[in-house]
Amino acid sequence: MLTGSNAVAVDTNTPAENAVLPAYAVFGNPIKHSKSPTIHTEFARQFDEQITYRALRVEDDEFEARVKAFFEGGGQGLNITVPFKERAYALADQASERATRAGAANCLIPQADGQLRADNTDGVGLVRDMVANHGWTLAGRKTLVLGAGGAVRGILQPLLAESPSAIVIANRTPERAQQLAAAFAADSRVPVIGCGLDELSGASFDLIINGTSAGLSGDMPALPELDLSDRCCCYDMVYGPEPTAFMRWAASKAAWAVADGLGMLVEQAAESYYLWRGKRPETAPVVQQLRALMENNA
Ligand code: ATR
Repeated sequence: MLTGSNAVAVDTNTPAENAVLPAYAVFGNPIKHSKSPTIHTEFARQFDEQITYRALRVEDDEFEARVKAFFEGGGQGLNITVPFKERAYALADQASERATRAGAANCLIPQADGQLRADNTDGVGLVRDMVANHGWTLAGRKTLVLGAGGAVRGILQPLLAESPSAIVIANRTPERAQQLAAAFAADSRVPVIGCGLDELSGASFDLIINGTSAGLSGDMPALPELDLSDRCCCYDMVYGPEPTAFMRWAASKAAWAVADGLGMLVEQAAESYYLWRGKRPETAPVVQQLRALMENNA
């Protein structure tokens, strides 16, 4: 799909006047509130590198053409967000295993031979935030994942790789949870079970991850009475200046630890930066900076 001769961007640490900086972008719709330009500019600053990173709104009927044009113009990497992750996966020439399992890509990487590679860094971003940043243990933990949409599909493979004792996927529409569980249970050593929300009544969990989009409208899934184990950790994949409805619910149940998805956002970006530029940025200062910006703007 791509040819190496199309790469016109110049990678330089000491850009002369008019030098073309390596160009990156995130494509999505809506995209106005994207934090990715801030995050990637900070990452580049850590290495004294200069890059261009833009958040670009793409219309539904132009996605594939815009991706092609971006790379033909010398673009060196794209992040893809809602609603285009499945289409990004479909248009790529090759894909990582985690993108294949997700059926979706949030990161496109041009290859030396001109091919375009799809990857998905969302799941590893979530796992790193929980394990490395928050110090949570995932191995052996009975895990409940709420939701069965694209966001949940994107994280299941990296989550299973941490060897929880079981994963229960519970969704407002039970059939979607059952289908998703079946797709992952087939070749997993970890039991993966799909069910409706009301079937959770009385069940006990060590880790609860909210992967529904309910939080985006200030809501949370209607949960029956659950038993949170002594050291139960609760993670909301969305974030905001205030604790989300799910985080308030978890706090009201005296969960051992509660976190939002800001760290996941920064960690998935760090993994993208690594895939594009071969360097691993520090994430903690960027999370702190974004948190402060969000609180000041609230
Ligand atoms: P995404 O890509 O963000 O996952 P999606 O594929 O539309 O978006 O999935 C949204 C998920 O949030 C679904 O699991 C949805 O439940 P349904 O499958 O029953 O629609 C869930 N969801 C959204 N709003 C919800 C709410 N108010 N209560 C419970 N679940 C909700």
